[in-house]
Amino acid sequence: MKVQGQHYRTIWLKADDPTTVQIIDQRHLPHLFVIEDIRTVQEMAVAIRDMHVRGAGLIGAAAGFGMYLAALAAPRDDFAASMQAASAHLRATRPTAVNLEWAVSRQLQVLQSAGDDVELAIARLRQEAEAIADEDAEFCRRIGEHGVSLIEAIAGRKNGEPVNILTHCNAGWLAFVDYGTATAPIYAAHDRGIPMHVWVDETRPRNQGARLTAWELGQHGVSHHVIADNVGGHLMQHGMVDLVITGSDRTTYTGDVANKIGTYLKALAARDNDIPFYVALPSSTIDWQKRDGVHEIPIEQRDATEVRTIRGWDGEQLRTVLLTPPHSPAVNYAFDVTPARLVSGLITERGICEASEAGVRRLYPEKFTS
Ligand code: MRU
Repeated sequence: MKVQGQHYRTIWLKADDPTTVQIIDQRHLPHLFVIEDIRTVQEMAVAIRDMHVRGAGLIGAAAGFGMYLAALAAPRDDFAASMQAASAHLRATRPTAVNLEWAVSRQLQVLQSAGDDVELAIARLRQEAEAIADEDAEFCRRIGEHGVSLIEAIAGRKNGEPVNILTHCNAGWLAFVDYGTATAPIYAAHDRGIPMHVWVDETRPRNQGARLTAWELGQHGVSHHVIADNVGGHLMQHGMVDLVITGSDRTTYTGDVANKIGTYLKALAARDNDIPFYVALPSSTIDWQKRDGVHEIPIEQRDATEVRTIRGWDGEQLRTVLLTPPHSPAVNYAFDVTPARLVSGLITERGICEASEAGVRRLYPEKFTS
């Protein structure tokens, strides 16, 4: 996608130095556009854990590149053990987004295919990291192509009035390698000239909506308003939301959706108001092992400081200030699970399906053995 007219992805190999990975350091957005050089797997693990990069697809791509960086530095006489340690280190950074585990496993298979040939392993890990990134971008583009039909159908009933979409967190291109998931149909509809307006949930405590989704939409020229997290229900009751689209960090093969904390409440409000609630995700976000999202998906608990403080721009620099009484403790659950029964459908790179085992099976029959 474009930043001030120039095309960027969220992660790439440095043009003149393929031993360095470059990322957009999202901690500084929307106030500063900072590109960070990542040279080691340790630096990549920190970048994932501390959310320089974030969002399910991008976490997966970052892990893919992290395995390549690990191979560049791994001692030749202890290569296999060192790579196992690197994979464990990356896997431990963030538990909920299944793309992380998926990308690391994909790289471990590549490693195995190279046998004892270290140089071949390095070459293949690099190729695979780039393939994971390219695939992520292409799948998101296709999600946009499929999802735009939902927006077109609503637009057809609105006589030129803008279609109002509510989204939560950032499932935009910053959360992936390009295009995004929840935002891909929005960008595609906007590019087709469909009048659109987006309600952007601020998404406390990290404010991915207020900081990142709002910035992305602004860069793309999409009309939007940032709203406090609790506003959505009121808007829905007053006919001001036509469609909700969110992303997902892990979705079970039965259609239960783990996404940023607060998503479940939006799904409940949408159901109460008969508003379609769709989830856009690539198949790399589907957990083919888990049936019961509420009880089986690991929910990341982050540092309570993120709840107790708030970070913003004071006109000159980014500052973090205390929000709560100094001694009030806080808890910080980062995700929740929306049961499949509240989800109108899943928008994937293969099309739109019902959020159910039958629906997912129809699009991905090869993933089911019986
Ligand atoms: O904690 P984050 O910012 O990595 O959160 C993940 C997300 O980006 C959202 O939950 C998003 O809606 C999922 S789609 C990548």
